[in-house]
Amino acid sequence: MNHVLITGGAGFIGSNFIHRLIELRPDLLIINLDLLTYAGNKDNLKSVEDNSQYQFIHGDIADQPLVESILEKYQIDTVVNFAAESHVDRSICGPIQFLNTNVVGTGILLEAVRKFWSSKNTTGFRFHHISTDEVFGSLNPGEPPFNEASQYSPNSPYSASKAASDHLVRAYHHTYGIPITISNCTNNYGPYQFPEKLIPLIIMNCLRGKSLPVYGDGQQIRDWLYVEDHCDAILQILEHGKVGETYLIGGENQPSNLEIIHQITGLLDELLPDSPYSPHSSLIKFVQDRPGHDRRYAMEISRIQNELGWSPKHNLASGLRATVEWYLSHQDWVNALVEKESFSTWINNNYSNRGGN
Ligand code: NAD
Ligand code: DAU
Repeated sequence: MNHVLITGGAGFIGSNFIHRLIELRPDLLIINLDLLTYAGNKDNLKSVEDNSQYQFIHGDIADQPLVESILEKYQIDTVVNFAAESHVDRSICGPIQFLNTNVVGTGILLEAVRKFWSSKNTTGFRFHHISTDEVFGSLNPGEPPFNEASQYSPNSPYSASKAASDHLVRAYHHTYGIPITISNCTNNYGPYQFPEKLIPLIIMNCLRGKSLPVYGDGQQIRDWLYVEDHCDAILQILEHGKVGETYLIGGENQPSNLEIIHQITGLLDELLPDSPYSPHSSLIKFVQDRPGHDRRYAMEISRIQNELGWSPKHNLASGLRATVEWYLSHQDWVNALVEKESFSTWINNNYSNRGGN
């Protein structure tokens, strides 16, 4: 791996991955192709924008001539595809953009890669696709975790579009021989996560004295992984993973959403003893559930542990504390996003008709 094309690198996980690559692999050339949708933010990479290792290109993975020219110009040997529409609630309100980016966009990106790769007849090339545990559907309490052989059973337009993109990536390997790997990861949290997602939304609303919207009974279960651990897992797969293989990644925890929210409110009570909103748990409000809401996700991560020696380094308590502290010390970053009209429009769309249980 020498010349890496990261797609969607101005988003949450992609920007963390770029920071991690610059820290751990100072000899790499890193090209970041990002469309800068509402979720893309160049500020996430401000501290590295002048670094000679790094270059940003504003553009769409669905622009095949652009992608082909980037692959050719920089003689890319590794593509890591983070670019996607990523928020389940937005996919319920407007699914088509999810099909455009996650399915068609991934397909066009693969076509550009196929053309470039087959003209080079190069060895050592890799296309790595970032996917999600949500493609496997929902587990009941007590059911065993998903593993690499679990059947795909996506339930939301988001997860269906990610499932379709996974199938395309696999098919390009099977049919054309493109050297691919896929990783399916659980819920990430940490620095630079857009404040539409549960953990940053709860922190942000606590700081503003706004209600903390809990969908349904709040007993849905997610497996949470600190984003730096996800980045390290991807790096292991790129450097040591087996071509054609899928790796599941997760944090091996099973808190309910309500437990996560109580951990955050507890941390804020401790870190902000003079807050007028303390105890922050008093802001909790049960609201109408997400349609088709998956009840539980859990991942069996023994393949990546045994074959690649990766395990999460952060547990939920340490990761949540680091995350809350990061948001407290980066309130300007949050304010710049939430002050945009598009953000308040989204909050109104998603929450104004949910009422309270
Ligand atoms: P994000 O929404 O924060 O960032 C997505 C990025 O992709 C943004 O910078 C956006 O501008 C860019 N983008 C969107 N459409 C594009 C296009 N057509 N061309 C180029 N760039 C485009 O998402 P995230 O949370 O960082 O997720 C990144 C990837 O990881 C996604 O593929 C997602 O499905 C997957 N994933 C996310 C999680 C999670 O918990 N966030 C967990 C597992 C997997
Ligand atoms: O599981 C991996 C997935 O995790 C990724 O593929 C997605 O890109 C990512 O967005 C995330 O999806 P979720 O739907 O699990 O994340 P979200 O933060 O939106 O919600 C987490 C849980 O919290 C979920 O059960 C819904 C609930 N929730 C969410 C919001 C925004 C609430 O109860 N209230 C809320 O206001």
